[in-house]
Amino acid sequence: MLAINKIHRINALEGLKQLPDESIDCVMTSPPYWSMRDYGIKPTKWSDGSKSVLGLEHEIRDYVNHLLSIFEQVKRVLKKSGTVWVNLGDVYAGSWGNYAPNGVVSNRRATGKHKKWLRQGIVNPQFRPPSSRKQLVRNKSLSLIPEQFVLGMAQQGWILRNRIVWHKPNHMPSSVKDRFTNSWEHLFLFSKSKKYYFDLDSVREPHLSLKKNMINLTSSPKIRVSHHPTGKRLPPKPGDPQAFHPKGKNPGDCWDISTRSFKSVMKGKGNGQGDGNETGDAHFAVYPEQLCERPIKAGCPRGGIILDPFMGSGTTAVVAKKLGRSFIGLELNPEYVKMARQRLRHRAPSRGQSAAA
Ligand SMILES: C[S@@+](CC[C@H](N)C(=O)[O-])C[C@H]1O[C@@H](n2cnc3c(N)ncnc32)[C@H](O)[C@@H]1O
Repeated sequence: MLAINKIHRINALEGLKQLPDESIDCVMTSPPYWSMRDYGIKPTKWSDGSKSVLGLEHEIRDYVNHLLSIFEQVKRVLKKSGTVWVNLGDVYAGSWGNYAPNGVVSNRRATGKHKKWLRQGIVNPQFRPPSSRKQLVRNKSLSLIPEQFVLGMAQQGWILRNRIVWHKPNHMPSSVKDRFTNSWEHLFLFSKSKKYYFDLDSVREPHLSLKKNMINLTSSPKIRVSHHPTGKRLPPKPGDPQAFHPKGKNPGDCWDISTRSFKSVMKGKGNGQGDGNETGDAHFAVYPEQLCERPIKAGCPRGGIILDPFMGSGTTAVVAKKLGRSFIGLELNPEYVKMARQRLRHRAPSRGQSAAA
């Protein structure tokens, strides 16, 4: 068993294999997206016999299968009551220009943005565009990577409980002229069993002001509202599904959460508030702490263990600790392990000071 409340410098697949069956309460993670970034890590030896870095496979199909082999292990280590939350992005087929317009780019041959990106480590010099024969979709189409992953998960026996839209109010403007800018990403909620831990009350939100509701809702004959003429809320009538829940409303499956720059994350500024940068610093994809809060509060009991097999800069661990949960982090890049440990030391309160969930 890997020690809890630690970030382990280990390959996700190897780390998972060291965890006992049904020992984890919740998994919150964002795996490397396909063909997006070179995290400078060593290749994994996969059960299909191939050796490649997750996210830098030549074919999308291989990437999805490798990711699924990791989630097969996640399924083994997850308790029956567990929940799994996965943030995963897509890519436009044929838009491989960010990587290597003509196959391998060397520092010597690269020009312009590629030269700069190579220096920053955000392009993969080994990248070769995938063979169009093996693509599911035509060039210019979204590749449907999240959909392929979800279908594979369903075949593994996972129950897809939510397909949450993480909408980024501060998404980057884009120069495209023949489609809309991408302003959201998927966050999937899976369970292993039909019955699982889910504390909806811990994440309920205040209802809209009753005055507003009275105008909007009373005009709709379908919606019955339990209210007092003075505007004071009354408890819902038993059996009335339309009535307000006294503890607040279900937040729904579309979440507005701004991204933050990696610099502000490391400085511990704010909490999930955006500053206009799409995915954190140029070379590092950090998700906002706010994105982890609802999953951890609702999907993991207090004192439970949260696993992030792709811990990166440590966001999941920081939020877990803040909310009085334990964590296990797996991360292969030694620099990120160092950053995550440093961030945990500086950001998260000690156990005694844990914020209420
Ligand atoms: C999208 S980032 C995660 C970012 C993280 N959510 C955060 O907020 O900082 C994916 C991370 O997975 C790591 N990674 C990629 N392949 C891995 C593997 N096979 N085992 C462990 N970590 C891996 C990368 O180094 C990177 O830090």
